[in-house]
Amino acid sequence: MDWQHVDWQLLERLRDRFLKNTGGDGPYWADEVTLANYDFTFGRRIAWKWAAVLQPMLERGWEPPARRLIDWGCGTGVATRSFLAHFGTGSIEDIILWDHSPAATRFARAAIEAEHPGPSVRVADPSTAEDGPPFVLLVSHVINELDTTGLEALLALARKAEAIIWIEPGTREDSRRLLGVREQLRGVFHCHAPCPHDGPCGMLAAENARHWCHHFARPPTEAFTSRGWSLFAQRLNIDLRALPYSHLVLDRRPPPRIPDAVRIIGAPREYSGLMKILRCREDGVSEVELQKRDSKPLWKKLQKKRDPGLLAWRETEAGRIAPGSFQV
Ligand SMILES: C[S@@+](CC[C@H](N)C(=O)[O-])C[C@H]1O[C@@H](n2cnc3c(N)ncnc32)[C@H](O)[C@@H]1O
Repeated sequence: MDWQHVDWQLLERLRDRFLKNTGGDGPYWADEVTLANYDFTFGRRIAWKWAAVLQPMLERGWEPPARRLIDWGCGTGVATRSFLAHFGTGSIEDIILWDHSPAATRFARAAIEAEHPGPSVRVADPSTAEDGPPFVLLVSHVINELDTTGLEALLALARKAEAIIWIEPGTREDSRRLLGVREQLRGVFHCHAPCPHDGPCGMLAAENARHWCHHFARPPTEAFTSRGWSLFAQRLNIDLRALPYSHLVLDRRPPPRIPDAVRIIGAPREYSGLMKILRCREDGVSEVELQKRDSKPLWKKLQKKRDPGLLAWRETEAGRIAPGSFQV
């Protein structure tokens, strides 16, 4: 696939479909051409989100707790391919792909085998299969296509996983649905990301009803320099600079916790000498202020990186980040 062969009308139709909630509608991948067009465009944008989640996991020393991967609602296999690109094929023995579209599983299998030879790849509905070896569950951009029965089946499978990496679009609706997943799985797993704690989600508090948990991935330079991506942005009316996503990384193993850990939600809002930051902490989600003069290192870090991952600081009772309390 290359930019010259992209079918823009087909992509427009796909985009319109993705923007609707199509729970329970059944398979929609018409053929391999549709899948190839998706994979080359929307799929790559999704891979950038996977990179934003997997790279920090890699840097923190997270390792797969099982040798089997299950990619549920695999589409063209973006989640598995991203996972293997980050963690390698060495620790994975076999991969199970599931999608109710046979065209999708065929495409995904061929792409995974071509890009990451080694693990055995097969297609099966793991929700109905007998219990097998331990596995890591990958889920990507599926939640708004599931009706209640579909989501229940997926959750039942999730409860058997050793770890779950689940990425969805950063819309309010999808993020809120993922929050529901977190609440259902809480107690079974430890939350490695994005939450710095395992307690109830602070977004559930009435005062946070207008917020939602999302973060921004950074697209690679080619997204801003290539003619193809610029055409994509124009034709599909998509802002390439903003790549919001919501995610959940759950694991039966506890993560290392740091004192005063916080995670910024969305992006800080910057004013003259002041930032307003929505942050998640063990005791809840609330907005705090950062005065530039109180912590220049933190100010600089936030200007440089929209999503700096897990941070730690203390706060005053008035909701200000305490001078000098930020730990690098
Ligand atoms: C937007 S695509 C995302 C594909 C891929 N996970 C990705 O991130 O690129 C959603 C996928 O979920 C699949 N899907 C939707 N409902 C499903 C169901 N009930 N059972 C299995 N697959 C389903 C669709 O066929 C489609 O391939």
